[in-house]
Amino acid sequence: MNQHVPVLLKESVDLLITSKEGVYFDGTAGFGGHSKEILKNLGKKGRLIATDKDPDAFKFCKEHFEDDKRFTIYNTGFTDISTILKIEFIEKLDGIFVDLGVSSYQLDNIQSGFTFREDAPLDLRMNKNIGVPASHVLNTFDAKEIADILFKYGEEKNSRQIAKRIVEERKNTKFATTFQLRAIIEKMVPERFHTKTLSRVFQALRIFVNNELEELQQFLDKSVDLINTGGRIVVLAYHSLEDRIVKEKFRYEALKCVCPPEIPICVCGKVQKLKLITTKPIVPGEEEIINNKRARSAKLRTAERV
Ligand SMILES: C[S@@+](CC[C@H](N)C(=O)[O-])C[C@H]1O[C@@H](n2cnc3c(N)ncnc32)[C@H](O)[C@@H]1O
Repeated sequence: MNQHVPVLLKESVDLLITSKEGVYFDGTAGFGGHSKEILKNLGKKGRLIATDKDPDAFKFCKEHFEDDKRFTIYNTGFTDISTILKIEFIEKLDGIFVDLGVSSYQLDNIQSGFTFREDAPLDLRMNKNIGVPASHVLNTFDAKEIADILFKYGEEKNSRQIAKRIVEERKNTKFATTFQLRAIIEKMVPERFHTKTLSRVFQALRIFVNNELEELQQFLDKSVDLINTGGRIVVLAYHSLEDRIVKEKFRYEALKCVCPPEIPICVCGKVQKLKLITTKPIVPGEEEIINNKRARSAKLRTAERV
């Protein structure tokens, strides 16, 4: 099993920490790569509150950081940030970090069914106790609903044809495994497009069953009001759909006014909440990409609460 190598580690932690004794939030603790570096850079009074949806990631971090009283983790989604702060009697944070998507551990864990490279139950959920597996979507949704998922979350151009074929296939055998889905896609598209099409289809199903984009939007909406002035939000995204949500949210919150240009005085009442620290996203250098393939699509954006 590949160990998860944290992406843009130094860059993200350097941008995140503005006060050594502050209180920080890592919404996607995973296998603790970024959490460990954050803790290393915090003083004795600093704190790190973390979440991860995945029960294995939660268990790993809970055990791994057991002796560090500055660390607390919850096995839940990062959208629970406000509730967690209430439980912890914390009013505001000095920094919020998320490293979106899935870890190498999840990709390699055959039971998760995250990869079309292994034959496994077609599930794709980060927490098997929440929502429905991808197989349920393929077995019960109508062709239009399936096509919409593939198009919206995978930007798959052949979404309609693929969805139609899925609906035909399930009349004979219900979808249960990753290889069943892989087989029908491989029959439909030329060999040179197999990997790209499979990646888009699996990405789309994963985003849908984990409600990833809606949760990211909700999380960003909540987070902006939970950061102290001067504190930062740092987000690592791995595909254009999630990066666009981050970019647009940061840009909107950095605006002082949203009145149409023809209006002579401002009447919108808009309040600027963020200042952009990275106007262009930070991306990994060549060396990091060579050493860690997963880093190749990463984009790091940071904004500061004003
Ligand atoms: C890319 S990994 C994080 C890796 C981590 N930074 C490290 O270096 O070990 C993403 C993690 O976020 C978790 N995750 C994804 N969406 C989540 C959400 N909405 N709430 C909480 N955890 C989430 C996944 O379960 C996964 O463990």
